[in-house]
Amino acid sequence: MPQHDLVVIGAGPGGYVAAIRAAQLGLNVAVIEQESALGGTCLRVGCIPSKALLESSELFTEARQSFGRHGIVLASVELDLKAMLRRKEQIVNGLTKGVESLFKKNKITRYLGHGKITSATSVTVESKEGAVELSAKNILIATGSKPSSLPGIQMDRDRVVTSTEALSFPEVPKRLILIGAGYIGLELGSVWNRLGSKVVVLEYLNRILPGMDSEIAGDAQKVFEKQGLEFKLGKKVNAARAEGNEAIVEVQGEEPIRADKVLVAVGRVPNTDNLGLENAGIKLDQRGRIEVSKNFATSSSNVFAIGDVIQGPMLAHKAEEEGIACVEALITGCGHVNYDAIPGIVYTQPEIATVGKSEDQLKEQGIAYRKGIFPFRANGRAHALGHPDGKVKILADEKTDRVLGVHIIGPRAGDLIAEATAAMTFGASSEDIARTCHAHPTLSECLKEAALAVDGRAIHF
Ligand code: NAI
Repeated sequence: MPQHDLVVIGAGPGGYVAAIRAAQLGLNVAVIEQESALGGTCLRVGCIPSKALLESSELFTEARQSFGRHGIVLASVELDLKAMLRRKEQIVNGLTKGVESLFKKNKITRYLGHGKITSATSVTVESKEGAVELSAKNILIATGSKPSSLPGIQMDRDRVVTSTEALSFPEVPKRLILIGAGYIGLELGSVWNRLGSKVVVLEYLNRILPGMDSEIAGDAQKVFEKQGLEFKLGKKVNAARAEGNEAIVEVQGEEPIRADKVLVAVGRVPNTDNLGLENAGIKLDQRGRIEVSKNFATSSSNVFAIGDVIQGPMLAHKAEEEGIACVEALITGCGHVNYDAIPGIVYTQPEIATVGKSEDQLKEQGIAYRKGIFPFRANGRAHALGHPDGKVKILADEKTDRVLGVHIIGPRAGDLIAEATAAMTFGASSEDIARTCHAHPTLSECLKEAALAVDGRAIHF
């Protein structure tokens, strides 16, 4: 029977990063992955392909709507959707091959098949060729999540689809309904809206992007409406199904809505299907997530879990941090994740990025704060880029001035949030950011100015 110090189940960003770190620290590591390509949902059918399409569709919009303002005149702009989808696939293929070569470099053994725990120290790999049993000193579950659905929704994966199918529609749907105004709905809704779909978003709550700072989410909704997305908030979807060449969505108290495609994006649920958790006595919480203690240990000794399958935001980088902390704690005794500084980014145009507490949370928790806001329209670089919409908002503790949250809507917000995250990780005050020299002309000056604004002394606004 093959023997390994660590057997990781799942080769998404959580699992493969943990495997590499464990190999660096000298363990004999194996990874079991049921898909032939490594990289998990994020790389194969999530973060990476969606970002490829967001970039392509944004360039298409710019070419049609904005190039003229730059003095660039095009005779005509046409969409070659096949080529756009091919480019996305090429990017995904290149990156999954990259993970394969990292495995080789780090001497990680890869098993193709479904991993099932048979005891606290053994896992079988089930595949078409049969089953192979592995002996494991430690097991790490990093099986991620899968799309959740709603009662009444008949997901046929043709007319009524998940994000996976919505990354590869063979033609632009004329009418696209999104159920859910979260990360996935807004990103993929933006892609197809830019490519020509009429997009209607049905959201159960009375706002979009629940959990995000409500001021920023309100700003985002206005921008998306200008771009052509139609929001129907406070709507309860009772059913959705394919009917002939269409899909029909039944919304409580309204006439049924017809569309060419319906994307269901109402969140994701932990993926623990057929994992054999019962064979090692591993417990789940009420929401079906694997319960872990400090250092990511499950209720079974030597079995650990990280990423979407445990509590916390379902984000690739959160899973990576946990994967590294888990194996470092296992091998060196020390591992740590700073959950107060995990950024979240929606890659729309403009991008929306957030780290730390929202203003809503500070109010709910009765924490006294000061707030500094700086708009991109007062920043030279934002004008040069042609994207002056949006703002940076910094929330700092009223007494200590420690930065508690930073929320950005605007150009390249997803890159700008890194500075805020680093500042918060080092326990910075808004004064620290305000006194840091920021290059001119850059978008990052908006962070400095928002920090100055916390103290009422922004220069350019
Ligand atoms: P989400 O949790 O972001 O949003 C789901 C939305 O559906 C919420 O607004 C919710 O109120 C709404 N909803 C729930 N039930 C509903 C109903 N019956 N009718 C209408 N609306 C309803 O989930 P989403 O967008 O599916 O994304 C799943 C996960 O993937 C998220 O946890 C997210 O963190 C992650 N993700 C992250 C991305 C990023 O980092 N850029 C991109 C895409 C996904």
